[in-house]
Amino acid sequence: MDRLNVVLDKTNLTPEDLLFLMKLENSDDLARLYERAYSVKEKNVGKKAYYRGLIEFSNVCIRDCTYCGIRKTSPQERFTMTKEEIMSMAHWAHKNQYGSVTLQSGERQDAEFEAFVADIINTIKKETDLGITLCLGEQSLETYQKWFDCGAHRYLLRIETSNADLYKKIHPMIETSSGANTFEERVTCLDNLRKIGYQVGTGVMIGLPSQTEEDLVNDLIFFKKQDVDMIGMGPYAVHKDTPMGQEVLSHGLDSDAEKERRFLLGLKMIAIARLYLKDVNIAATTALQALDPFGREKGLKAGANILMPIITLKEHRRKYQLYDNKPCIDDDQDHCKQCLTGRVRSVGDEVGFGEWGDSPHFSGNAS
Ligand code: 5AD
Repeated sequence: MDRLNVVLDKTNLTPEDLLFLMKLENSDDLARLYERAYSVKEKNVGKKAYYRGLIEFSNVCIRDCTYCGIRKTSPQERFTMTKEEIMSMAHWAHKNQYGSVTLQSGERQDAEFEAFVADIINTIKKETDLGITLCLGEQSLETYQKWFDCGAHRYLLRIETSNADLYKKIHPMIETSSGANTFEERVTCLDNLRKIGYQVGTGVMIGLPSQTEEDLVNDLIFFKKQDVDMIGMGPYAVHKDTPMGQEVLSHGLDSDAEKERRFLLGLKMIAIARLYLKDVNIAATTALQALDPFGREKGLKAGANILMPIITLKEHRRKYQLYDNKPCIDDDQDHCKQCLTGRVRSVGDEVGFGEWGDSPHFSGNAS
């Protein structure tokens, strides 16, 4: 038997196995990896894709992350939606049987923001039976607790990279109310979210400058160590008005071949995460589609089971560009729903309409 077969048949993968899989290049080998990951997905979480309608409600941000198009110092026009606008999207999601919504925005830590989000969560819970995922960055334990008490039950906070040196390089220091924005601080936030009782998600960007395959293996080991329930990760995509984007472009590192490399690494990460962590929810993120027109379908085929269709009102979409060529920014929600549902069915999955689709990993831990 060849080594790939031996590794794919293992129940517990070692760091060496993970690295071996991460370095696979040959297209037949990759096809075997994805196929096995898809069957592990089928067995552990089913062949169903759950929707989290993504509401990107503000691009105001106190952080200056070097890769991100809405970083504080970018020349971007800023917006924050009104409560009425956000509620109209939540109602649209509910009417269209999306089981859950994700509230995402730039990071703010002021009291007004905390109260605004709490009011939105309360109102969504009162007027719909949607599940709520938050993706609102680092906050104090008290703020996380308050939003949980209002009814949010999942929280996604990416570690971005588990390599602490690289983390430091791409996250310039700023003063925050919860302390310095260090790698350790981010891990503390993840621990706090778990303590409170959220279903916790994290993730990384894949294919960052100077990031190695060993780093990516360590990311997977980090996910396991943190015992996360959900993973949202995707390839790095250039935003030309950011320091990282400019560096990458000036070194000629955004060629089609480079994009293809980052995309493939993204798919491999999904597949290996599925083999290694088995029963967690894994998102096929929009960034996959920014690099390949069929990116999200390929993500589902490689083991992902969550999609985050953008339901942000069309007039605001252009102002929430974390990276260039973000797909779907000229589409409206109805178009996105039809398009995506066709994409899900094309790979043989069905959509979990009207279901929350919580991570079986979380339910398993709770029982
Ligand atoms: N490429 C890919 N992903 C990005 N994000 C931010 N900027 C980029 C980029 N240029 C991701 C980060 C963040 C999430 C909301 O978007 O991982 O956590």
